[in-house]
Amino acid sequence: MNRRHFLQSFGAAAATAATSVAVPAWAQQSGTESTSYRRAPEMFKANPRLTCLRGFQGQDIGCDGAWIEGKLPADLRGDFYRNGPGVFERGGQRYHHWFDGDGLVHAWRFGDKGVSHQARFVRTKKFVAEQQAGEFLVPAFGTAIKPKIPLRSSDTMNTANTNVIRMDGRLLALWEGGSAHAMDTQNLETQGIVNWAHELAGMPFSAHPKMEADGSLWNFGTMMGKIVLYHFSPQGKLLKHRIMNAPSTAMVHDFAISQKHMIFLFSPISLNMDAVRSGKSMVDAMEWKAKDSVKIMIVEKADFSRFRILEIPALMVFHFGNAWEENNVIHVDFVKSDNLDNFHTWMPKIMLGEDVVSEPSSPAFLQIDLNRNNVSLTERSENLEFPRVDPRVVGQRNRYIYYPIAVENSTNNALNGVIRLDVESGKTDSFSFGANCRLEEHVVVPKAGSTKEGDAWLVGVGFDIPRQTSFASVFDAQNLAAGPVALAHLPYWLPHCFHGNFYASS
Ligand SMILES: [Fe+2]
Repeated sequence: MNRRHFLQSFGAAAATAATSVAVPAWAQQSGTESTSYRRAPEMFKANPRLTCLRGFQGQDIGCDGAWIEGKLPADLRGDFYRNGPGVFERGGQRYHHWFDGDGLVHAWRFGDKGVSHQARFVRTKKFVAEQQAGEFLVPAFGTAIKPKIPLRSSDTMNTANTNVIRMDGRLLALWEGGSAHAMDTQNLETQGIVNWAHELAGMPFSAHPKMEADGSLWNFGTMMGKIVLYHFSPQGKLLKHRIMNAPSTAMVHDFAISQKHMIFLFSPISLNMDAVRSGKSMVDAMEWKAKDSVKIMIVEKADFSRFRILEIPALMVFHFGNAWEENNVIHVDFVKSDNLDNFHTWMPKIMLGEDVVSEPSSPAFLQIDLNRNNVSLTERSENLEFPRVDPRVVGQRNRYIYYPIAVENSTNNALNGVIRLDVESGKTDSFSFGANCRLEEHVVVPKAGSTKEGDAWLVGVGFDIPRQTSFASVFDAQNLAAGPVALAHLPYWLPHCFHGNFYASS
């Protein structure tokens, strides 16, 4: 499978979808643009618990000095970049899905004088055109929108809204289905789409690359039954890539690396092309196949052409914590849910301001025996998401995983605390903010001069519901139960982010 064939197969599928989306059933029937999107029930009903889902109107924002509660650690200095969907409404039309919004990249800067915050929208072609037009112009992942401009590739719909990493002196705002967007690390100006190599132009580059302790980086992209794999040097040079057949057409959001392997889980999700052709969004056209298996694809890092595929019963996964291997057994941890219900049901409701209970998702662990080609699964019962590990142990044996968690007093399973799980002992250390907070992902920042896994700060972002403002939180990762050592409060609220990374000052 070379690039031409990949693009042909993607192009054929995309053209089918695009044509269908371009002329959905409601438009064919009426011959005019539907007014269904403008019905009042589809707009956001103000709800103080869900303020962050109101989104911005495309404005950038900043604050020179956050109000510090507690005491910032003297050695915690650097830039905490985050990314998430920031615009949900234009021209009286509202997205149905949290994943749809345009990427808003944040820089929380931890310095000697305190914490500042800056956020700028990624100037994708989509954002610039829609901001100028004052309306949505292209279909979104979870919202069927009649295209008003030609859909030339997936990058026409690229929102650059899922993660942000620093690589080779620039920021990369990442999306799942298309190219990375480069930004300036200091002023967050968008520099444009990244093209790794001529033959990789426009290829999907997932929002969950994995960086090893030495800086080498691995990533993938999936599209319509194909998977592209990437390996970069610590200097950001593309060392190798390969395009190959995937075991299914399922959406794959994240993956894990061990010392020798890349591990992918293809959950049993199929795309109902009749639904796409009838004008449904990609999300609404996804179907959960509970009786089908998860395909586990295990690729050798040393040679992308060497892989095996194993199977386990149906489960859903978005995020992985880590993987490592010993004695030809790969250990993988991830967050498991039973199906796509949150994706299909809960998310559209909260996007309307309805604070309803979500289905739980819990820590899960695979042991993949490469000698016997068998897989065992163990699970825990905590309700959590967004796992992270110490960056020094990515792809190596790890002892700890850190998550935001729904704990005591959580309302509707909202993430309102943090937890550290010791995977060797099973012991946990956690803290709850109580019912009046919603927490995002928290990342592990090694303490200056430390060498031991977990000797670190845990840094994340949350939303203070009574104050209606957002904050950055800092915990001692070795004593979460003691509560945050510092909170940096902004005078405004922010749209919730998906992911980010902390880059310590050197
Ligand atoms: Fe993610």
